Amino acid sequence: MKQPLSVTARLSEHHGRELEALSGRLGITFIEAEANASPLIDEGFIVAIDLTLPHRGAERLSLLFHTLEEAADFLIRHPDPAAEYPALVTEYGAMLKEGFLVAFPTETVYGLGADATNEEAVRSIFTAKERPLFDPLIVHIATIEQLEGVVEKIDERTRSLIDHFWPGPLTLVVKKHPSIPDIVTSGGPTVAIRMPDNPLALSLIEESGRPIAAPSANRFGYTSPTTARHVETQLGSRIGGVLDGGSCAVGIESTVLSLATETPTILRPGKIGPTELEPIIGRVVYHASAEKKGALESPGLLENHYAPTTPLYLVDDVTLYKDDPAVGVLLFENDGTEFRGPVRYISEREDPAEAASRLYWAIRGLDGLGLRMMVCSLLREEGIGVAINNRLRKASHKG
Ligand code: TXA
Ligand code: MG
Repeated sequence: MKQPLSVTARLSEHHGRELEALSGRLGITFIEAEANASPLIDEGFIVAIDLTLPHRGAERLSLLFHTLEEAADFLIRHPDPAAEYPALVTEYGAMLKEGFLVAFPTETVYGLGADATNEEAVRSIFTAKERPLFDPLIVHIATIEQLEGVVEKIDERTRSLIDHFWPGPLTLVVKKHPSIPDIVTSGGPTVAIRMPDNPLALSLIEESGRPIAAPSANRFGYTSPTTARHVETQLGSRIGGVLDGGSCAVGIESTVLSLATETPTILRPGKIGPTELEPIIGRVVYHASAEKKGALESPGLLENHYAPTTPLYLVDDVTLYKDDPAVGVLLFENDGTEFRGPVRYISEREDPAEAASRLYWAIRGLDGLGLRMMVCSLLREEGIGVAINNRLRKASHKG
């Protein structure tokens, strides 16, 4: 096996020993990271690949993984990614152009992409996901030029948001161009647009030469995917392929901001909130449904969403469940409490950004263990905590 890779990880002593053994087996060099190599994921592992992707210069792709096993799994499946990935992007770009479905990583969650200008291709997204046609899709672009033929026009407010936040986890709802098929927008007059901040996504979209309609790559109603394995488990046999980009760094879906209302309105909270938006465009409001229980504005904001199969309960004090082996626990800090049931840390040190990046991974990890239930406490209602709480409420068991 070749040795094209270095794997960077901020290591505990325990992991250090594990990695040494693994590097012997795989013939790969593992390096201990500098203090700030991964501001988002403390215990994360980074596979760093030097490569040149279509439409991009030479760059270093840093793929994040939440566990050593997941980093190793990637390396076993892709022993020479520097050679494989440019060819994969070309192949998947051609598939998109021909109307097939391809899942790809973004900084938020994995998307299930199709050519947004091809009605039949877009229809197959709804079939694969078992998604109702009344729930509109986000159109993803790689260059500003691609907005032509997608949106009617870009006003000053929209332009300044684009300049500040793209590529990034902000979706803008604006007036649509007539050439975007109705199926993308559920027949509505507006279209949701976003430029994802992920080199693999950007390279793939540009290679396809099309604007790409892409919902999260999960079956409708279930937790969004933040690893390629998550996508394969639910949709693998129904789609053309999955481009594996490791774990998604942000980990929860983009902020959806409507510019079709007089005052810009957050339809779905995300990493970018009023604190970031208001200095650029002035006052921003939350739609009732984005804040708590409320009316149905954006159909994807349905009450029951992002839900695991094992019922999730939101509780004030998770330690009340520490003696029950059939209860899975999602934790936001490690204060040394021992639980008899399985535990997943969304953060060990109350870091909300880390919690977002690990949330769906943790929920999926506990789901499927045959547990009676899982429990979690809400975070403080500020910053990305607003978005995390929004997803937790929707994922939680009703009734
Ligand atoms: O981070 C993300 O946004 C991910 C990645 C793949 O980009 N995508 C995503 O797509 O979460 P999806 O389809 O799972 O959620 C899109 C949300 C839904 O709540 C949908 O109702 C809303 O955006 N949406 C789409 N078009 C809209 C429109 N024209 N007006 C209002 N809401 C819209
Ligand atoms: Mg979704």
